[in-house]
Amino acid sequence: WRAVKLRPRRRPWRRAGNRVVAQAGSYKVAILGAAGGIGQPLSLLVKMSPLVSALHLYDIANVDGVTADLGHCNTPAKVAGFTGKEELAGCLAGVDVVVIPAGVPRKPGMTRDDLFSINAGIVRELVEAVADYAPGALVHVISNPVNSTVPIAAEVLKQKGVYDPRKLFGVTTLDVVRANTFVAEMKGLPLADVDVPVVGGHAAATILPLLSKARPKTSFTDEEVEALTRRIQNAGTEVVEAKAGGGSATLSMAYAAARFLEASLRGLDGDGDVYECSYVQCQAVPELPFFACRVKLGMDGVEEVAAAELRGLTGYEARALEALKPQLKKSIDKGVAYAQQQP
Ligand code: NAD
Ligand code: LMR
Repeated sequence: WRAVKLRPRRRPWRRAGNRVVAQAGSYKVAILGAAGGIGQPLSLLVKMSPLVSALHLYDIANVDGVTADLGHCNTPAKVAGFTGKEELAGCLAGVDVVVIPAGVPRKPGMTRDDLFSINAGIVRELVEAVADYAPGALVHVISNPVNSTVPIAAEVLKQKGVYDPRKLFGVTTLDVVRANTFVAEMKGLPLADVDVPVVGGHAAATILPLLSKARPKTSFTDEEVEALTRRIQNAGTEVVEAKAGGGSATLSMAYAAARFLEASLRGLDGDGDVYECSYVQCQAVPELPFFACRVKLGMDGVEEVAAAELRGLTGYEARALEALKPQLKKSIDKGVAYAQQQP
């Protein structure tokens, strides 16, 4: 027989500056709503991440099959399935990031706000569990209407005494992914080079792509700005109509959520150069307590909010920003009122 050379075990931690952080490949991620249209492809993408050591899948239905299936992929992340409220504690214990795509999707003719009556309660219940069992975790809220579900999550965390605004995110990465794709297609640019900040919120006219801040610097005619802005704002509806009753964006959303998760994990890991747009509590627009803009992600979540990006807007962008404020404010207030009425 031959002696097998054992590789030394990696330390589960390393130093970043004067901090001790988890070693790459040591992060634990929970996905709540993991058996759904977004949850399944997202779970697959997360299972492929070299930064993830444990992947906890939670859903109220069908989670065992997804867990068994994913568990056969020969990538390092260890997969475990959880179902039913009584298993939420085990699912959430010790996780670094909780991603929430649980909830119902739109059908043609519906707005995202039409989902409030069902999804508000789902998000509330899940975030209560996060507060109890993973109070220090980053929370990525995907469930719509994001403009209201994030304020609900914030109120729940406040009620439980564990709210840290740096750690709560509404996932708006899909708006950026779409903007990058549509601009690259229109201008014949290499996809990997294009970066368009998208600010505001995540519904209709509250989605505001800042084409004047696109990189690489690109010029657009007024007609192009109008067409691109409308397309980015209506892209969710484009998918809902194409699916004709079969739900909303799932694959592109899973891709976008995986990108945002990867960015968050790199931030936690001490990478000092991670920026993404996200809907967070901030002062970027004083009358809007929550606003999507580019943020720097670090070891405690949001490290910096790039509010300066809102300076020097074109006339079109400045008018669109003014116009979205009442709608976004109404959605924020609706979420806060819901959470405060039902403590
Ligand atoms: P889906 O119906 O396919 O999946 C939702 C999953 O959530 C199901 O598996 C369901 O069993 C589960 N679920 C329901 N209640 C739950 C609970 N209390 N606890 C745990 N799991 C629960 O829907 P989908 O297509 O995956 O979309 C999910 C949500 O994401 C929708 O609200 C949709 O509008 C939203 N969405 C957001 C974005 C975005 O950019 N933020 C993009 C696309 C979709
Ligand atoms: C999207 O933008 O695709 C999501 O918010 C889902 C939807 O309802 O459009």
